[in-house]
Amino acid sequence: MCGIFAVVNDDLKEAAQTTLDGLKKLEYRGYDSWGIAVKPLKGNELKIEKHIGKIGEAKTKLPKSLIAIGHTRWATHGGVTDANAHPHSDCTGKLAVIHNGIVENYQMIKEELISKGHRFVSETDTEVIAHLVEENKKLMPFRDAVFTAFDVLIGSNAVVVLDLDTESIASCRNGSPMVVGIDENKGRYFLASDVPAFLKYTSTVYFLEDMEAVTISKGDIKIFDLETKQEKTFAPLVLDWKLEDAEKEGYPHFMLKEIHEQHKTIAKTAVVNAAPIEKIASMIKQGYKVVLTGCGTASYCALMGKYFLAESGIESQVYGSYEALPFTKFIDGKTVVIAISQSGETADTLIAVKEAKKRGAKIAAIVNSRGSTMERLSDVVLPVGAGPEIAVVSTKAFTAQLSSLYLISRVVTGQYNQAVKEVKRMSETVKDWLNDELVEKIMNLSKSLISTEHAYVIGKHLNYPGAQEFALKLKETSYIHAEPFTAGELKHGVITLIQKGTPCFVLSSNDSVKNEVLSSAAELKARGGHIIGISPFDSHEYDESIKTPDLGDLTVFGNVIVGQLLGYYLGIGRGADPDKPRNLAKSVTVK
Ligand code: M6R
Repeated sequence: MCGIFAVVNDDLKEAAQTTLDGLKKLEYRGYDSWGIAVKPLKGNELKIEKHIGKIGEAKTKLPKSLIAIGHTRWATHGGVTDANAHPHSDCTGKLAVIHNGIVENYQMIKEELISKGHRFVSETDTEVIAHLVEENKKLMPFRDAVFTAFDVLIGSNAVVVLDLDTESIASCRNGSPMVVGIDENKGRYFLASDVPAFLKYTSTVYFLEDMEAVTISKGDIKIFDLETKQEKTFAPLVLDWKLEDAEKEGYPHFMLKEIHEQHKTIAKTAVVNAAPIEKIASMIKQGYKVVLTGCGTASYCALMGKYFLAESGIESQVYGSYEALPFTKFIDGKTVVIAISQSGETADTLIAVKEAKKRGAKIAAIVNSRGSTMERLSDVVLPVGAGPEIAVVSTKAFTAQLSSLYLISRVVTGQYNQAVKEVKRMSETVKDWLNDELVEKIMNLSKSLISTEHAYVIGKHLNYPGAQEFALKLKETSYIHAEPFTAGELKHGVITLIQKGTPCFVLSSNDSVKNEVLSSAAELKARGGHIIGISPFDSHEYDESIKTPDLGDLTVFGNVIVGQLLGYYLGIGRGADPDKPRNLAKSVTVK
C-alpha cells in the first residue's frame, strides 16, 4: 500500500520528472493521491507539489533538481485531500516525509508534539514523523534525528525523509518494503517500494531488511543497522529482470499483458524450483503436517493446493491468513506452513507466518516478488519467477504459484518429472488456446453481460476454488457482484437468489464430479438461470459456453483464465481501469 520513490544525483537534474516517472510505475500500490518534493538547484527551500487522484498523464512543473522524493497514496488515516497527500512537511519547511505503513501510536505522538508547539496541517499519521524529526534535529544531526524518530514509531512502516540542510535522504524500514537501486556508472541512487519503479535505470539492487536504514547524499550511500545504529556492509544483488517486464509492450493494460504472458511464466515456473520443491516434499514425507495460507487470490490458490495434495494422499489445512490466528495453536515443530504471496509483503500473511514460526513450524514461501519480508522469514523459498506483476489484479503470479503447488503435490508421490512435463504441456496448450478467436468470443460474452449487476459462479472440488478465483476477477475488475459457490451448496439456500436471466457460470472439468456439476447447472436453469459453461466439453445444460483445454486436474487453469479475460473485458466495457481497480492496492501491507 502506497508507493515510495526517491532519486539522488539525477544526472539530468530532472529529479522531479524522474520521480514522477517512477511513481507512474508504482501507481498500482495506491492511487488516491500523489506528490513530490524536491530541493531545487537554485534557492534554499524545499518545493512540494501534491494532487488528489491518479497520476495518469500528469506532468510536473517542479524546478530542476538533483534530489527528489515522491509518493502515491492509498489512504488510511485522513480522507483523500491535497492536505493529506504526501510528502508532509515539518513546521520549518526544511523536511519532507513520505511513508508507507501505519504509525499505530500517532495520536499519542501528535498530542505530545502539539504540546511542544508543533502545528499540524493534515489528518495523517505520517505528519507526526516530520515533526518528530524536526524536534530531534534540534539536538542531533539529521541522520540520527531520523533514526531516533523511527524508534518511537509503532507499526509496520517504511519512511523516507528529505532534508534541505544536508541535501540528503534518510530512509528506515520495518515491515513495509523498501529497495535501493544503485546506478554506479552515473553515481545515481534510487529508493522505491518496488523494483520496476527504477528498472529503467538499474537492476542492481539492495533490499533493505527490517530494522535497516539507508542514508543517501550526493555520491554517498550507507546502510545502517537500526538496533545498533552502526553502519554495516552490504552486498547489492543484480536482478535478471528486464525493462520489458515493467512495460506494457503494446498492450493497453498490464493486466492484459500479464494474462497473455502466462504460457511463458507457467513454463518457466515448471523448471526453476526443483531443489526447494524436493525439500518441501521431503518434509511432507517425514510426516510434517501441511498448512497452506495466503490472502485473496493466494488463498484460493492455497485451497486448490489442498485438493492437489489430497489427490496425492496428503492431508492439509488451509487458512485465509487473516483468520489463521485461532488455529495457529495447532501448529508445531512438525508442521510445514506453505505461505503463498505474490508480493511477500501482505501484512496478514506475514502475521500468520510469524506466529507459525514462533511455534517452531518450518516455513515454505511461494512468492513472486524478490527480496520480500516473507522470503527472509522462510526456511524454503520458491520464487515462481513470473516477473513483476504490475496490474493490481493478480493473474500470472496466481498461475505460477498454482503450478508450483501442483509440482509439490506430485513430487511427494515420486512423479516430479512427469508433473513438470504436464505443466509444460499445459503451458503450450494454453498458448495455442489463448488465441484471437477465444479472445473475441470472451469479448462478445462480456458485451452481453455489460449491464449485469449480479452473477453466480459454481464449481466443485478443484473448480470450487476455481469458481472463487473466477468470481474475484469479475468483482475486482468490473465491480459486478459475482458470488462463487460450490455446486453442492446451491440447494441449501443459494438457489433462492436465481431469477430469470441471472448469469450463472458453471466451471467444470472432465472429472468424477462432472455429472453432479451439470445436475446443479440443470437446477439453476430450471429456475431461469442463464447458464454459461466454462469447461472442456459441451452440454445441453449450457445456454452458451467457452471451451477450455481438457487437461485433467490442470483444466482449472484454463477455467480461471477465462475469468481473468472476462473480468478484464467487462471492466473495460464498464469504464473501470483493470490495472487499478477502485479502493484496491497491489500490496496490502496493513492489517
Ligand atoms: O501479494 P499477495 O499475493 O500476498 O496478495 C494477496 C491478495 O491481496 C491479492 O491476491 C489480492 O486478492 C489481489 N487483488 C487479487 O487479484
